[in-house]
Amino acid sequence: MTGEELKRRAAERAVSLVADGMRLGLGTGSTARHFVALLGARVREGLDVVAVPTSEATRAQAEAEGIRLTTLDETPELDLTVDGADELDDRLRLIKGGGGALLREKIVAAASRRMVVIADGSKRVAVLGRFPLPIEVVPFGLGATRRAVAAAAERAGCRGALSLRSAPDGAPFVTDGGHYILDGAFGRIEDPEALAGALATVPGVVDHGLFLGLATGAVVASEEGLAELGR
Ligand code: A5P
Repeated sequence: MTGEELKRRAAERAVSLVADGMRLGLGTGSTARHFVALLGARVREGLDVVAVPTSEATRAQAEAEGIRLTTLDETPELDLTVDGADELDDRLRLIKGGGGALLREKIVAAASRRMVVIADGSKRVAVLGRFPLPIEVVPFGLGATRRAVAAAAERAGCRGALSLRSAPDGAPFVTDGGHYILDGAFGRIEDPEALAGALATVPGVVDHGLFLGLATGAVVASEEGLAELGR
């Protein structure tokens, strides 16, 4: 089975968790894209839901699928968010932001009673950190912020290169919120809570891709079948 087929399997299972009347959060990335497409098919069959997209890319896809959209201002509490992840561990701790949408993804996940991660088996790790940690920063003061991020990470036992993410044209990648992303190649993050706490003290850091205590469940598809964690 290809990676895309595995992602679609996980998305199919997540779509089965959606019921009439639900207020949903729609994730971003190639796995979430399958979920939005499958959800659109169910909406066209009569399913009645409203949804908050976590990126402009997902907004465009959801609109094309005919999914009714809302905002967290109109609908501040959601029933279920379904999103991908770059990594997840057995305690449902995540690294997200490979697609650059981590800030809206985290706001939407935090507003949801449930957050279910959909992923193929390659995303499951024993220790987070093989995937570089995305850290969203304000463009002003980038050089100083980068130094402060490195120092904060070191206090939490993490060392590694902090690369400014580039767009395909070579310019800095700019998030939907108008910020830059530093990707922290820390390797094993032994204490994600300590790292999250340290990063939160740095002025100029808007947010980071450690999602701790947000995911309530996960559906992980591999050749062996579907593994479900949490709820
Ligand atoms: C987007 O910013 C990310 O958090 C994605 O959810 C994550 O990168 C997973 O993306 P894929 O499903 O494309 O691997």
